[in-house]
Parts: sequence; C-alpha cells; structure tokens
Amino acid sequence: MDIERFKLARRNSVERAFLDTCISGKKKVYDDEKVASPLALVTGASSGIGRAYAEKLAESGYRLILVSKDPLRLEAAVSAIGDQVIQSHAVDLAQPESVRRLLDMLPKLEVIIANAGITQVTPLGATETPERQKLYYLLCGGVIDLLEDQIPRMRASKRGRVVIMSSIAARTPMPKSSLYASAKTAVASYGSSIAQEVKRDGVQVTTCLPGYVRTEAHTRAGLQHLHRNIPDWMWLSPEQVVEECEKASLSGKATLIPGKVYKTVRPFLGSRLANDIWRSLTRR
Ligand SMILES: NC(=O)c1ccc[n+]([C@@H]2O[C@H](COP(=O)([O-])OP(=O)(O)OC[C@H]3O[C@@H](n4cnc5c(N)ncnc54)[C@H](OP(=O)(O)O)[C@@H]3O)[C@@H](O)[C@H]2O)c1
Repeated sequence: MDIERFKLARRNSVERAFLDTCISGKKKVYDDEKVASPLALVTGASSGIGRAYAEKLAESGYRLILVSKDPLRLEAAVSAIGDQVIQSHAVDLAQPESVRRLLDMLPKLEVIIANAGITQVTPLGATETPERQKLYYLLCGGVIDLLEDQIPRMRASKRGRVVIMSSIAARTPMPKSSLYASAKTAVASYGSSIAQEVKRDGVQVTTCLPGYVRTEAHTRAGLQHLHRNIPDWMWLSPEQVVEECEKASLSGKATLIPGKVYKTVRPFLGSRLANDIWRSLTRR
C-alpha cells in the first residue's frame, strides 16, 4: 500500500476515495471511523481569531466544520482553507432556533472552538430588550446551548477539547460595554465551572480571555478610533492568540490570558488606576 498516500487521505477528504482501496478480503484494513482525521467545529470562522484558529487546525490535520453568519464571507474562508473543510454553515448564532437547526446537523466532534461574537457599545438605557437578548444569546446563551448539546457526546467517548473565546472584559469593568462585559463574564464562569466537571471524563475545556486583538471587530462596531488610541504593544495578533490557546488546550489548562502584557497586568485588572488608564485610552 502507498503509505504516504494513505496518510494524505487521512487528512484530506478529496483523497478519501483512495481509502476504499485499503480493503483486504471482507475486512477493511482501516475502518472509516479510525482512519478519518479528527473533526473540529469553529464558530466565527470567517475572520479574525476564528479564521486564524481554523487555519491552525487545518494545518494540524483536522477536518473542519466552519460556521459564521454572512454566507459570502464564510465562502471566502472556506475557499482559502480548502479541502479540509467538510461542512460550512451560514447561521445567525444570535437566534436560538438557528442554533437548534445547526445542532441537528452536527456530527460528533472532537474539538469545538466557540468563538463567534461581536463587540458592541451599549450605554446604559440605550438598548431595547430584543437587542440585549440577541447579544446575550450570541455571546453566552448560544455558546451554552452548543456545549450542553455536544459535550455529553464527547464525554461518552472520553475524548474532546473545547475552547471558549471570552474576553479580558470578564476581569475588568467596561463602562458603556456592560452587556458585552457581563456576557463574557458569564460564559467564562460557565467555562471554568464545566472544565472541572468534565476533566475526569477526558474532555478538556479552556476559556480564553484576550485583551485587544487586531481583527475587524472594533471597526465593525464603529470603534475604529481604538486602532489609533491603543498603543501597539497592547495589541495581539489573532495568530498569537490561537497559538497560545492551542498550547493551553493541549496541555490541559482551564483558563488563559494570552499575551505577556496582559499576563503581567492581570493582578491589577479592575483597579482604579487600570480603569483610569483604560478610560483615557478608549476615549474618542
Ligand atoms: N478582537 C478583540 O480585541 C477581542 C478581544 C477579546 C475577545 N474577542 C472575542 O473573540 C471572538 C472573535 O472576534 P474577532 O475579534 O475575531 O472578530 P471578527 O474578526 O469580527 O470575527 C467575528 C466572527 O464571528 C462571526 N459572527 C458574528 N456575529 C455572528 C452571528 N450572529 N452569527 C454567526 N456568526 C457571527 C463573524 O461572522 P460574519 O463574518 O458572518 O459576521 C466572524 O466570523 C469574539 O467572541 C470576540 O468577542 C475579541
């Protein structure tokens, strides 16, 4: 048998037909379940951290299911990443019924990167209930619905990894972004709690709390001034966040604050001085 081609077939769905030739008599030499490379779901995969995470997992040999909202942006990511994407779903993860439909279509996963999200400025009293509910569901409730559905399946097979993309906002007050900060705090608390609950069943849950990451998120939220005001040393690249997250997940860490600068200031987050500095940097 052509071993190199066999290894490639494990990683690449285009070569899957070749696997059918790996049959001896009535018994498949490598049955499909054992042969297929592990399957990872990445939400918010069309740009920023999610896109970088999908690329990293593809490089590492995972087959991918990618999810985000805008079909054209998703299609661009699927084309760029290539054959390792076996499914893609343009789904509004801020809507419970769309999440329900997505869950019905998902096969058993080995890795889940629960990353989709937006940044939103929401001064007190300036939002209506439906808008608040959508933001909360996207950043927190929907992540919980996804994981409550999928982690039991991982648990049953005693194998799986989950990364939840929270934010440093879970560790510091964020005036005028209280909804974002509180949803990210809730999902971080959920993540660190279930991490302990499922670890002994072979499922690793890591919650990542990034600071400022250079993605489209701020511009899309009308916060482009942050790219001018926040000094360069406070920005992380999506690739750096992903690199640290993957390392933390593979080494069994429950919580991660990526970037040296944020690790250093961690004990001071939420202090009066840190809040004053943050307010002056984020002012328009
Ligand atoms: N950038 C930062 O400084 C920073 C810091 C801390 C935490 N985070 C968190 O990191 C995660 C990724 O953000 P990013 O910075 O990489 O932003 P980004 O480049 O804007 O990417 C956001 C991703 O989420 C998807 N998404 C947004 N709303 C969605 C919805 N309703 N349904 C389905 N998909 C949706 C987007 O899909 P479409 O392209 O279809 O809209 C896109 O793929 C977010 O949870 C964010 O809160 C970011």
